[in-house]
Amino acid sequence: MEFVDALKTGVEHIDNQHESLLDMINILIEARDQESSPETISLVLSEMGKYVFVHFRDEEKFMKDNDFAGLEEHRQSHEIFEAMVLEFSNMFNQGRTDLLDDLLKFLSNWLVSHIQGEDRSMVHEVLANRN
Ligand SMILES: [Fe+2]
Ligand SMILES: [Fe+2]
Repeated sequence: MEFVDALKTGVEHIDNQHESLLDMINILIEARDQESSPETISLVLSEMGKYVFVHFRDEEKFMKDNDFAGLEEHRQSHEIFEAMVLEFSNMFNQGRTDLLDDLLKFLSNWLVSHIQGEDRSMVHEVLANRN
């Protein structure tokens, strides 16, 4: 997955974090393709989970600092995603390694559509209100 221009919000630290998230998905895809051990994949998954947490809290702080009206709704999307990632990871760690393809599809689809949709329109609105 490539961090294409269509995914850029225009706020550098958010864009950098988004790029790192896509990098982590690429690492997961590579690990899957190379048939890495479930232990390795589980480690990358948990690193990614931690990074998602950091990114979401940073983004929520950005929204709060800028009095973004849609903060609560946006926060809910983040929380639903985090819960899904946790559930998938738990199932994977309990031996459901067959879920990896679905997990990867879910992670990449959700992130791309969230960044392209909610994140970009949020930043757009914040920047418009600054002027
Ligand atoms: Fe984001
Ligand atoms: Fe977001």
